[in-house]
Amino acid sequence: QSIALLRSKLEEKRANLGTGLKAPVGLVPTMGYLHEGHVSLLNAAREASEIVVLSIFVNPLQFGPNEDLDRYPRDTERDLKVAEAAGVDFVFLPQVEEMYPGSRSSRTKVSVSEITSVLCGASRPVHFDGVTTVVAKLLNIVQPDKAFFGLKDAQQVAVISQMVNDLNMPVDIVACPILREEDGLALSSRNVFLSPEEREQALVLSRSLNLAKTWVMEHPSFAVEDLRKMIQDFITAHSSLAEIDYVEVLTYPQLDKIDTVSSGETVTLIAALAVKFGSTRLIDNLILSLG
Ligand code: PAJ
Repeated sequence: QSIALLRSKLEEKRANLGTGLKAPVGLVPTMGYLHEGHVSLLNAAREASEIVVLSIFVNPLQFGPNEDLDRYPRDTERDLKVAEAAGVDFVFLPQVEEMYPGSRSSRTKVSVSEITSVLCGASRPVHFDGVTTVVAKLLNIVQPDKAFFGLKDAQQVAVISQMVNDLNMPVDIVACPILREEDGLALSSRNVFLSPEEREQALVLSRSLNLAKTWVMEHPSFAVEDLRKMIQDFITAHSSLAEIDYVEVLTYPQLDKIDTVSSGETVTLIAALAVKFGSTRLIDNLILSLG
């Protein structure tokens, strides 16, 4: 729970490392309530690093005033068991006071511009400043060689990579694939809030993205708006409970608007969506490397 203790333990363990081929320290930042998606990051970290650090911190800074900070699911005891089974060396579990002591001591925030004003940044205006600030702090506290993030939050990966490049932070950001349930729903800590009916209808998200993948293979050149609209119309037509926050198709990782894709053009697109089922907001995306 303590930054000072984590640092001294890590220093001790680092000093005793041999000259292995793996990176010395790998960090997996999370907000806990761990599921297989988080475990896939821990596995990637363990493959690539000698020492694996998992952080669990529900970061108040990245929640807006009307968001679900208070009801964000927590189960530390279970998380520790999952961490142990995944071969984690250190779990950093700070209290809010340890990360943000007093109100006067924290006057610095890390803010990435432009790519944070689209997609989730448009509907969650303070969210990404909260993410970059806490991730910068975690990177400074742990000083990992590699840090692992899931493409489930593809915009988050783009924003953190931008921060690390812009600020010359000496860490490798490793992007890991989205883990899904067998029926296609992307794993998320928030899935526990879905009623059986919402859970069933939430399948429309991954289905719409699968359809997009097929559609793109069948259209060598296309207007990007046609692809976006196809995804949106599919969701509306197949789910009465879905309340769309956004469906967007942009370039990745720049997150620029693009009008058309011509046959043979080399471009990477992201089809990204955020949809509410009842009070639960789910996100999903598909990255398409074309050309
Ligand atoms: P959290 O939502 O707990 O997610 C922690 C990490 O797990 C993120 O990198 C996320 O992309 C990844 N993840 C979640 N679901 C996944 C899935 N189905 N497949 C693969 N990876 C998945 O993202 C955060 O926490 C916070 O914003 C954080 C980065 C910890 C900063 O507070």
